[in-house]
Amino acid sequence: METKKAVVLSGVRPTGDLHLGNYFGAILNYVKMQNDYDCYFMVADLHSLTTHPDTSGLKNHIQRVIATFLAAGIDPEKATLYCQSHLRTTGELYLYLNMLAYKGELEKTATFKEKARQQPDNVNAGLLTYPVLMAADILIHKAHFVPVGKDQEQHIEMARNFAKRFNHRYGEVFPEPEAFNYSHDLLKIPSLDGSGKMSKSVNENATIYLSDNDDTIRKKIMKAKTDAGPQQPNSPMPDYVENIFHLMELVSENSTVSQFRQSYNDCSIRYGDMKKQLAEDMIRFISPIRKKMEDILADEVLLKKVMEHGAAKANEHADQTLAEVRKAMRLNYFI
Ligand code: TRP
Repeated sequence: METKKAVVLSGVRPTGDLHLGNYFGAILNYVKMQNDYDCYFMVADLHSLTTHPDTSGLKNHIQRVIATFLAAGIDPEKATLYCQSHLRTTGELYLYLNMLAYKGELEKTATFKEKARQQPDNVNAGLLTYPVLMAADILIHKAHFVPVGKDQEQHIEMARNFAKRFNHRYGEVFPEPEAFNYSHDLLKIPSLDGSGKMSKSVNENATIYLSDNDDTIRKKIMKAKTDAGPQQPNSPMPDYVENIFHLMELVSENSTVSQFRQSYNDCSIRYGDMKKQLAEDMIRFISPIRKKMEDILADEVLLKKVMEHGAAKANEHADQTLAEVRKAMRLNYFI
């Protein structure tokens, strides 16, 4: 008998092009997981409405995320790749879960407080119940593992609480989902200006997007923050220099990295040379992904097929869960 694989679900909001941080923090995990788990990867278009109500560019953004996923190696035959708004059932589960979510805990959520500060004129109820919709995304597929970054861990904990409350009140339907990552400390890719991590929407010049062309990559890397160089052998390394080494470790040969580390330690390092090398290695890494992505984006028929295929598979699975939910809640009055 075939043993059932554990279910994995994750989502990315289509609020901008994906970057190196998304690649190493999320997509690479997805590509590895698709072989070992029953994977659902979703473009979270509905979540993006909480902060980006203008939908004029949404279709394009969604297509760009799907194309990036495909270019990076997600196989729509192995994993179910779909768009959140194609599952109407998620909206229904969200409604039920809202009755199990308390105003106090929602108001205390770190991301809610941050977003409310960032957009004081649009503190909408969708923003407040963002974690409930996310829990619905996860629970509609009865997911066991949710690969996410550190900033999303609180949401997973909330999803677990909603699952427990549901099970306790209506009977055991949902597994308790857990955050998951292959690397122990959830990987953060530093931004090039030495402040924080790469981000879809903050300081584009300090973020390397998978869609950046060779020249753009070169320019961004050459502008990365450095200084006059170490004045004494074996000096401690400032953050922004460590960051450049960190990026190099991701895309360059080990021998290249150790050669520059050595020259840092004996003070002969020239940051200009180091950045030139990093830029070329980064281009070698990114340009094949970008080219594939461009080819996929030019193929509207393929994109439509992938989305339809994903929506059909995801809906079939979600419909089963929702039937169980309604039954557990005794909402099945016709039978
Ligand atoms: N909130 C996630 C983010 O901003 C995106 C997301 C939506 C998600 N639904 C999800 C992630 C379900 C994991 C599981 O990154």
